[in-house]
Amino acid sequence: MCSIIGIIGKNFVAPALVESLKRMEYRGYDSVGVATLSTNRISVRKGIGKVNQVNSNLNLAEMEGLVGIGHTRWATHGGVTDYNAHPHPCCSGDIAVVHNGIIENYLQLKEELVSKGHLFRSETDTEVIAHLLEDQYNASRDIKVAMMGTVNQLEGSYAFVAMFANGTLACARLDEPLVIGISDNAYYASSDVLGFLQYTDQAMFLDNRDIAIMDITGTCIFNFGGESVTRSVTKVAWELADANKGEFAHYTIKEIFEQRISIKAATYQEEHKIKAFCDAIVAAGKIVVTGSGTSYHTSLITSMLGARVMKKRFEPVMASEFKYNMDSVDKDTVVIAISQSGETADVLSATKLARAAGAKILSIVNVPTSSLARTADVSLGINSGPEIGVAATKSFTGQVSLAYAIVDRLSGGKVGFERDVVSDKITKMLGGSAGIERLVNMTMPKVNDIYLLGRSIHFPIALEGALKMKELAYVHAEGIAAGELKHGPLALMDKNAVVFVLNADDKTYSDTLSSAHEVKARGAKIIGISNVSNDIYDAMIEIPKMDNELLYPLVEIIPLQLFSYYLALHNNADPDFPRNLAKSVTVS
Ligand code: AGP
Repeated sequence: MCSIIGIIGKNFVAPALVESLKRMEYRGYDSVGVATLSTNRISVRKGIGKVNQVNSNLNLAEMEGLVGIGHTRWATHGGVTDYNAHPHPCCSGDIAVVHNGIIENYLQLKEELVSKGHLFRSETDTEVIAHLLEDQYNASRDIKVAMMGTVNQLEGSYAFVAMFANGTLACARLDEPLVIGISDNAYYASSDVLGFLQYTDQAMFLDNRDIAIMDITGTCIFNFGGESVTRSVTKVAWELADANKGEFAHYTIKEIFEQRISIKAATYQEEHKIKAFCDAIVAAGKIVVTGSGTSYHTSLITSMLGARVMKKRFEPVMASEFKYNMDSVDKDTVVIAISQSGETADVLSATKLARAAGAKILSIVNVPTSSLARTADVSLGINSGPEIGVAATKSFTGQVSLAYAIVDRLSGGKVGFERDVVSDKITKMLGGSAGIERLVNMTMPKVNDIYLLGRSIHFPIALEGALKMKELAYVHAEGIAAGELKHGPLALMDKNAVVFVLNADDKTYSDTLSSAHEVKARGAKIIGISNVSNDIYDAMIEIPKMDNELLYPLVEIIPLQLFSYYLALHNNADPDFPRNLAKSVTVS
């Protein structure tokens, strides 16, 4: 997703702008641009490609100026072209804008601006902001008035930073994150604290409908109506800045291996917060659990755990489907929103709707400074540290571990999640990574389709394993509730299919084994993931016996993550930054 950085400093800002864009690369993008102000003129350099590539083509880091803005773009409106890359200047070139989000009424605004003589150079929705600001500033010669006049015409969700040729940076946000960083030598405006965390840990989180105007002497904040507002300065955790690959070839494999630790970190919670979280669940008449992608798979597991252990109805709802399925959400409802980033637009929109209907919002997030964490009634962090790989790995197991800790607390320990015991079992699974790599090389040369079968608590892992294979290795993969095979998917089984069977020795075992026989009879290759061997498996990945069958997800997902990672390498795909995907999906 797009990343924004703006800096006003006492030294040339271009090297820091480029560094900041690199640190936010994990968010996903297709083009890069920087604008700086030097001798009262704004220069813009931008192009498609990765930060290093565009920097070496255009020497971004060598641009002069004490004020500048930078951007990585993830295309929404208009193709991936140099012209569509940000920053976008206005007609005179005296204002340049970088933006994240979507301006829904841009076509109408563009028409009006064109009729006034503005010349557009890109196909983006963003460019209307530059021209609107120019229009407003020419009329008022006052940046605050120009900003208010502009935001009051924009519809949609956005965060943008505008650089003016007089050396001022002005920014505004509505439903997209924007954070101000403050150091002795500079002010920063960024979509992500990682954009400036290498320079300062002092941050001011702008609220929705805030405008900030910054020059080297300080920052003033107003609401969209022009009234002054105060936002407190927060110290953000330095450990967030710990984002490097260490000895690993990719962030993704590093993060897979970090799960030994991160599943434990997820369960350390402040007493008053976890108490408030659990009390709200106990008091609720109805509990809805929501999330997107991997976090939705955690929602499925959390709902199963809650229902089984607490004998209470938990309803999982995909965040993107929430608005169509909220007739029963009311003040008696607690919504548990799960998200690694805490910035996923579908999740934020679900919680906004639920809150408007009177529901209480609990959240489980990884980024403690995120919009979801800050707007929930109670928020618990999973403490996984930065997850840079676009595919969620350690955040998934962190979320699941925290769900176990919550359900155990609510039920007097009925799941029996012991973090050290599970961590040891995960360590053992990780020790088998070389075997999984060999399995990829043996199994995959001729295979186009992978199916994963599981029942009950194993079904969300079938879905999550399939998601990992799709996004990391670009292979068609499908998670199927094993009992559904004969209702359709069996028609697809033949000698070209590889079928993973999630078959722990629990109450799903014999039914799932029957499903395995059904696919084997059609010629498919079977990879068993189980704690008991069986001749039916062409290959088997052994998992440890778990004391409670509800705990299997945490050990079953590890080989599937590893398989997906090695399959990505086998298919020459970049496991950290899969094509077409963004880490933080901040548009609906
Ligand atoms: C997971 O591997 C994906 N990258 C994606 O499905 C992700 O889980 C989803 O976009 C939700 O993100 P969130 O947890 O940050 O809300």
